Amino acid sequence: MELAKKVVTIKNLEYEYPDGTSALKGINLDIFEGESVALIGLNGAGKSTLLLHLNGILQSDEGDVEVLGMKVAENIREIRGKVGVVFQDPDDQLFMPTVFDDVAFGPINMGFSEEKVKEKVRMALERVNMSGHEKRAPHHMSLGEKKRVSIATVLSMEPEILILDEPTSNVDPRARRNLIELLNGLDITKIMATHDLELVSETCDRAIVMFEGKIAANGDVEEVLTDSKLLESHGLEAPVLVRLFRDVMNREYIPIRLEDVIEKPNKYKI
Ligand SMILES: Nc1ncnc2c1ncn2[C@@H]1O[C@H](COP(=O)(O)OP(=O)(O)OP(=O)(O)O)[C@@H](O)[C@H]1O
Ligand SMILES: [Mg+2]
Repeated sequence: MELAKKVVTIKNLEYEYPDGTSALKGINLDIFEGESVALIGLNGAGKSTLLLHLNGILQSDEGDVEVLGMKVAENIREIRGKVGVVFQDPDDQLFMPTVFDDVAFGPINMGFSEEKVKEKVRMALERVNMSGHEKRAPHHMSLGEKKRVSIATVLSMEPEILILDEPTSNVDPRARRNLIELLNGLDITKIMATHDLELVSETCDRAIVMFEGKIAANGDVEEVLTDSKLLESHGLEAPVLVRLFRDVMNREYIPIRLEDVIEKPNKYKI
C-alpha cells in the first residue's frame, strides 16, 4: 500500500504578535495529501494565526513549518503559487477595481497568456456562481458575494493546497450549498478554519480543536463532532443533527452519518 504523502509538517510552532499576544503555544501537526482538515475552536483560539503560517504571511522564529517538502520561510514565492489562502475578511483579499482583475491577478502574475488568463477567470467565477459579475467593483458588493469572489481569486491559481478561513461566514444558504459541493468536488488538500460545524461534517475527514493557542484534540470528524463533552469543554456545541439524534436516542451521543439516517429511517425512528 502506498503511504499518503505528508504535505504539511509543523513542529513546535510558537507565535507571538508584535504587541506581545501569544497566539500559538507549541503546535505540532501533520497533514497528508488529499486530506480535508477542519480547524475549529472559539474566537481567538489561534486558527487564523496558524493558517497564515502555511504560506508565510506570518513567520515565527520558534518552530518549523514545512509545506510540500519546503521550508516555508525559505521558499515563499514557490509556496505562494501552490498554496492558496482565502482570508477571513474579503477586504484583505480584494484590492483591484473589478472582479475580473482580482481573479486574474494570480494567473497574470504566473505569466499565463491572455487567453489562458480569461479561461481561468471564467472557470473560477463559474465555480463560485459569480459568472456575469466580471465588470463589477468588488468594494460595491455584498459580503457574501465578496467572499465568493475571494474564493475565485484563489481557485484561478489552481493551488495544490487550498486554505480557507471561515469560508461560509455571511454566505447565503444557496451559495453555501454550492460551496460545499465545490469543496467536495475539489480533489486537493483542503484546510479550513470555521465555526460552521455542519460544513465540517459535510466536507472534512479530520477535525482539529484549537484552544488557547494549542491543539486540544485531533481526530476523525465523526469522532470529534459527536464527542459532546470534548466540544463543550472547549466552548463548542455539537452540530444540530448530532444533538437532535442524541435526544431522540436518549443517549449521550451516537456516531451517525446522514446517509445512514436517510437509508434506514426506521432505525432512527423518523
Ligand atoms: N494582528 C494581531 N495583533 C495582535 N494580536 C492578534 C492579532 N491577530 C490576532 N491576535 C490575537 O491572537 C490570538 C489568536 O487570534 P486568531 O485570529 O488566530 O484566532 P481565531 O481562532 O482565528 O479566532 P476567530 O474565530 O475569531 O477568527 C487572539 O488572542 C487574538 O486576539
Ligand atoms: Mg480567525
